[in-house]
Amino acid sequence: MTATNSFLPPEPVVVQPRQRPVIAIDGPAGAGKSTLAAHLARTFGFLNLETGAMYRALALKAIENDYGFDEEESLLDLAAKTRIKLEPQHEGNCVTLDGMDVSRRIRDKDVTSGASQISVHPRLRAWMVDEQRALGQAGGVVMEGRDIGTAVFPDAEVKIFLDAAPEVRGNRRYQQNPGTPGQSNVTESALVEEMRERDARDRNRIESPLKPASDAVILDSTNLSLEQVLAAAEEIVRQHLPTPK
Ligand code: DC
Repeated sequence: MTATNSFLPPEPVVVQPRQRPVIAIDGPAGAGKSTLAAHLARTFGFLNLETGAMYRALALKAIENDYGFDEEESLLDLAAKTRIKLEPQHEGNCVTLDGMDVSRRIRDKDVTSGASQISVHPRLRAWMVDEQRALGQAGGVVMEGRDIGTAVFPDAEVKIFLDAAPEVRGNRRYQQNPGTPGQSNVTESALVEEMRERDARDRNRIESPLKPASDAVILDSTNLSLEQVLAAAEEIVRQHLPTPK
């Protein structure tokens, strides 16, 4: 797979010590990582890279080509023939799969579940991690996902693990997307249940399970407003970056 970012120089990239910091945002589904990552990227003048979109785009390609989510070898072959591009925008990323804009389609329920299922495969994860390191190697990025602070950039200058109680995450998701295509008939309790299932898979997989890095700052947003979360995270970044913009 070629995951590219139009702001980065063309391959081959000479690997050098990065000039600018990496901000790693990890946490479970629905914790508000995307909103937070977009906000921090705007505030500090960084690129915002959403790694979950890469797992989602590959899951979509698997669906379109009738590949099973448990077929690691075939998924790796498929990945090698796939071009995924993340383009940071004001809010989140525009995601293209082999040149097609799939930014909306990858949010559908079948893709959401598929992304979580394919993400358990160790060799596929190793592939994704390599791609993500290449995307962020110059620094100046807010990278959001499940394993950024533990596996992709264990040396990230700032690590935030954003968490919230499952009911709160399910409720927020439901309030945000009551009429999202592919989710229009989903009740709030079904959404919470789905989230619990995905969390359990993400937290219990053998390879890079979702967990805070030992040096991550844990930000629990269960009882915080969005404004409070953004302010708290900004403060964390300012404390860790020597010369914030
Ligand atoms: O962040 P998201 O909901 O778009 O992620 C979709 C799935 O991809 C998630 O259930 C687990 C997987 N994922 C991962 O394993 N590692 C990442 N860095 C990002 C996402």
